[in-house]
Amino acid sequence: MIIRTSTTKPVRVPDILATKQNKRITALTAYDFTTARLLDVAGVDIILVGDSLATVVQGHETTLPVTLDEMIYHCKCVTRGVQRALVVGDMPFLSYQTSIEKAIESAGRLLKEGGVSAVKLEGGENVADIVRKIVSFDIPVMGHVGLTPQSYHRMGGHKIQAKHSVAKTGIRTGSREQVLNDACALDAAGVFAIVLEGIPHDIAREITLRVSVPTIGIGAGPHCDGQILVSTDMLGLNGQAVPSFVKQFAALDTEIVSAVERFCNEVRTGQFPEQRSTKTTIDPIDIN
Ligand code: KIV
Repeated sequence: MIIRTSTTKPVRVPDILATKQNKRITALTAYDFTTARLLDVAGVDIILVGDSLATVVQGHETTLPVTLDEMIYHCKCVTRGVQRALVVGDMPFLSYQTSIEKAIESAGRLLKEGGVSAVKLEGGENVADIVRKIVSFDIPVMGHVGLTPQSYHRMGGHKIQAKHSVAKTGIRTGSREQVLNDACALDAAGVFAIVLEGIPHDIAREITLRVSVPTIGIGAGPHCDGQILVSTDMLGLNGQAVPSFVKQFAALDTEIVSAVERFCNEVRTGQFPEQRSTKTTIDPIDIN
């Protein structure tokens, strides 16, 4: 059993901003109380309630179906388990794209009802005005550029971005220049950190050098200011279906299947519960 032993100071948004180029940020996703508590006890800096919950918790093929109400429910579960890490709530598809009012309302609900300290949204130049407005109401925003899973249908799947340059191909969408401009637009709009997902290492390095806020990479190489992974992937809970850049730090799927097999076996063979001499009396409680 893991028992919390220290009461370390909580991580706040200014702490994350202050890490730029002097400390590597650690970040993982969580969607429930139990996992969030364990990640927090282990000392991760940021816990993201990612919209990846659509795929890893709800079993959808993409992140598109998860709703704002579902995200808020999972944010509530996670924040109850966390004492130290900064908890960030992801803004799901269509909770911020249609109007600035809707974006502020959705972001505000994640803080007010979900209890998170910041929100994350996908996009760059196209969402810069929205980010600026949310930030102006003191709701900290984390950006997310490169491979943005909510753009699944435009990208034709979860595809690495920024592999080509406009100069060579004439195609702006998904180009190195576009991803760099997206990151710079978010920086100027006031985000406190930017997730760089699924882009070549050299462009991640260039962005990290260009922007004033920390970059947090996932499948973007070693030059970012921090790293984030989907916890179910890095804990080995997803079988073989993990992206190639993921390092599996445990094989919990094997552990869980083996524990459940042992439980089934012991119940079926009568080994569990043990046939020990059962106590017939309850220890007296001294009430004086
Ligand atoms: O939803 C998510 O889990 C994410 C991370 C992959 C960054 O956005």
